[in-house]
Amino acid sequence: MKSYVEIRVPATTANLGPGFDCLGMALDIWNTVRLETGGTGINITGEGANLLSRGDDNLVYTSAAALFQEIGEAMPPLVFTCDNAVPLGRGLGSSSTAVVGGLVAANALRGEPLSQDELLTLAVRIEGHPDNVTPALLGGCQIVVQDESKLITSTIPLAKELWAILYIPSQQMPTHQARGLLGPQVSRADAVFNMGRTALLVNALTSGDLALLKTATQDRLHQPARGVLFPAMRLIIRAALEAGASGAFLSGAGSTILALTPDREMTVGYEMADMADKAGVPGDVKITKVSQQGAHVVSVG
Ligand code: HSE
Repeated sequence: MKSYVEIRVPATTANLGPGFDCLGMALDIWNTVRLETGGTGINITGEGANLLSRGDDNLVYTSAAALFQEIGEAMPPLVFTCDNAVPLGRGLGSSSTAVVGGLVAANALRGEPLSQDELLTLAVRIEGHPDNVTPALLGGCQIVVQDESKLITSTIPLAKELWAILYIPSQQMPTHQARGLLGPQVSRADAVFNMGRTALLVNALTSGDLALLKTATQDRLHQPARGVLFPAMRLIIRAALEAGASGAFLSGAGSTILALTPDREMTVGYEMADMADKAGVPGDVKITKVSQQGAHVVSVG
């Protein structure tokens, strides 16, 4: 057992428009988790510091405990220090960062008894959203598919570096609420609409043919229903595209809108914010990049 470890885990965006529940991508926005032996306590700074539990139901804490349970050991007394840059309840995978952060930190502290595959299986079992958990752990742009009890992941190599422009509304949109808006069935026409675009999206990203992205990021399986709760979504997506973004979509279950672009990132951000302002949706713009790196150890000793 090491005496301390510090790890970083990225924000993620899921769905990317049409890839509902099966595509996700890591972003260059990071939460830090530090574990130290020789004491107890949970310290939290940054995003969610006023909202997150400091008790033994804290998700980083319960995820670290799950790692120890998985390897058949009791978790030792630990001091948890979490510094969060990922906003909560905005479709940027904050709960996946907590789960993956707790697991990866505990695994590193204990000398890495579990493999990446085992960590992924455990993380998905705890979190339930493989499209956020997978890129949080592995980085990059990921396809994730459940084959009976087996999880299959595949990295989409990006031919071109892309900016990710986020418009992050002040208002949260909890995933369970945003999922509750979705009907139990979809039409064949909508399924075909999304299948074609998901395939097109993978090809656009791997080939670098970014002209395809505008069509390839369209969706009919979740965004229209979620737009009922968040009507400005459609307007902010349109503003991003008109400002020159290659593609734009609701990030995960929302409320963040994300635009992908190789250039004109300041203009895209400005126009998204301007439209949000006109539509009465307060929030912030953040310009970031896709991260090829997933959760990783910063220091251990
Ligand atoms: N794919 C999920 C959803 C996002 O759209 O509800 C959380 O992984």
